[in-house]
Amino acid sequence: MPSSRVPLRDPCPFCLIRIQNSTENIINENSPLIQRRPIRETVDSKWGTLLFGLLIFILFFGCTIGFYLIGVETGEIEPHDVLLYSSRYNWKAENAQSNIDLALPCRNLLLLYTNSSPCFEYNDCEKEIKNLQKQHMQSNHSDILYNFIIAGDDRIFEGRGWKYASDVPGYNDNGTFSVALLGFPGDHDPTDAELDQLILLINLLIANHKLIHCFEVITKPEEEEFFSTVINQIQRTFIETRCS
Ligand SMILES: *[C@@H]1O[C@H](CO)[C@@H](O)[C@H](O)[C@H]1NC(C)=O
Ligand SMILES: *[C@@H]1O[C@H](CO)[C@@H](O)[C@H](O)[C@H]1NC(C)=O
Repeated sequence: MPSSRVPLRDPCPFCLIRIQNSTENIINENSPLIQRRPIRETVDSKWGTLLFGLLIFILFFGCTIGFYLIGVETGEIEPHDVLLYSSRYNWKAENAQSNIDLALPCRNLLLLYTNSSPCFEYNDCEKEIKNLQKQHMQSNHSDILYNFIIAGDDRIFEGRGWKYASDVPGYNDNGTFSVALLGFPGDHDPTDAELDQLILLINLLIANHKLIHCFEVITKPEEEEFFSTVINQIQRTFIETRCS
């Protein structure tokens, strides 16, 4: 019998109810409240989706930042745009006896080598920096000589920092910021990561009005050749180096 062959085309009971309901809605219900219901549902579900998406985004974003910070903390990832910084507190510096204030913003950036043993791991570098401070203080300086030191672990160590003048013999005027590379000149060329850190530091100094935008780079004559790559990079990066 042909009628027994149609079950495939029979809608399921659920669909049937849905179809009936919507038909009833269209045909029988004229009250605006009920007619508006399907629209409100769509709007509600839109907001729901949006909210859900937002929550997922916040969760994802939070996790990303979290892992990023963990990565930076443990030195696993070292992207170009993060300043790897070790404050005096971090490297357990001795307190300085007395320091002279810088005349800010500074006009000169002194680049030099510490002429001491290089290092490549954070712990070794911390020891080297502490040794340097000890040596400098033993030779009657009030503190480690430099404002900042870039070490072989690609980290910037805070020396006298943002506020106090450095005390490099022959270059100890209060308008000069000094950044020293830890090691002997010619030991190794500054790595890309060290260069990145230096450029970031200079950017920060300019942005915080510690260094004028048209600063001058100074090196010791005997160390000049070892800084040629660095100076080229600085000249390429900081285009506006003319005061007007
Ligand atoms: C910087 O040094 C100059 C010359 O020695 C001096 O006149 C000036 O007062 C100093 N500036 C500060 C902020 O100490
Ligand atoms: C440091 O100063 C003290 C006292 O002024 C002096 O006796 C000593 O020789 C100085 N040391 C150095 C390395 O200049």
